[in-house]
Amino acid sequence: MPYLSPALNVMTSAARKAGRKLIRDFGEVENLQISLKGPADFVSVADQRTERILIEELQRARPGYPILTEETGLIEGPDKSHRFIVDPLDGTTNFLHGIPHFAISIALERDGQLVSGVIYNPIVDEMFTAERSHGAYLGNKRIRVAARKDLKTCLSATGIPFLGRGTPEEHEGFMKELRAVTEATPGIRRFGSAALDLAWVAAGRYDAFWEHGLKAWDLAAGILMVREAQGVATDLKGGDRMLQSGDILVANEPLHPQLLKLLKNARS
Ligand code: IPD
Ligand code: CA
Ligand code: CA
Repeated sequence: MPYLSPALNVMTSAARKAGRKLIRDFGEVENLQISLKGPADFVSVADQRTERILIEELQRARPGYPILTEETGLIEGPDKSHRFIVDPLDGTTNFLHGIPHFAISIALERDGQLVSGVIYNPIVDEMFTAERSHGAYLGNKRIRVAARKDLKTCLSATGIPFLGRGTPEEHEGFMKELRAVTEATPGIRRFGSAALDLAWVAAGRYDAFWEHGLKAWDLAAGILMVREAQGVATDLKGGDRMLQSGDILVANEPLHPQLLKLLKNARS
């Protein structure tokens, strides 16, 4: 059974409540696909509504905690030692296109350290949780990163930059990385939800994940999840500034240094 701290309990209930709403809205998006304008406006409203539910639930249980969210930004609170970090809908493009692969991500920091994390895919009802020093779980099952040690068997995931994300030089740099990993490994996936990518590395489904230019709300819960699943999480320089830089590489202990070297060399 997962270790459910009182805070983690609050976070999983909030995610389940918001998830029920997301499922209903996702059904509506599927109906709107055939309209000319498409469901874009509807999705941004659904995104904001989900965020509102999460904020309400978290504030009700922990009234003093500040909350950093994607849509609202920082909501200040008097408790300076805690902070929730929330992405109400990670995988918006999938959601918009009727692709059932997206998640709610909630992390809790205490004194600047990540202590609890929840990543919830409501469509398949997969609840990933992690609590500092108590491991990572998928539902009731403890999860660990995969044991594969060789790049020749390493299945990785990444996020491909897109229109409006990154400069042409950054796009070019990413293409070099992609080429290096393409030539060294049997497969790369782009599933479109960084939070789920991190949870899936923690669960041993992919061996590694890297991406540039993410935000704290994409990463916070997933970083804790990977670390509690015995994996390694760093930025793309091998440091600890993932939340500040938005750059991340996660993998197991043997693969992480090999991939870090491959990605660094690809750009130089
Ligand atoms: C996005 C997803 C995607 C990643 C993008 C993120 P959003 O978050 O995590 O996988 O490649 O960089 O912005 O916009 O769906 O919350
Ligand atoms: Ca996101
Ligand atoms: Ca989002």
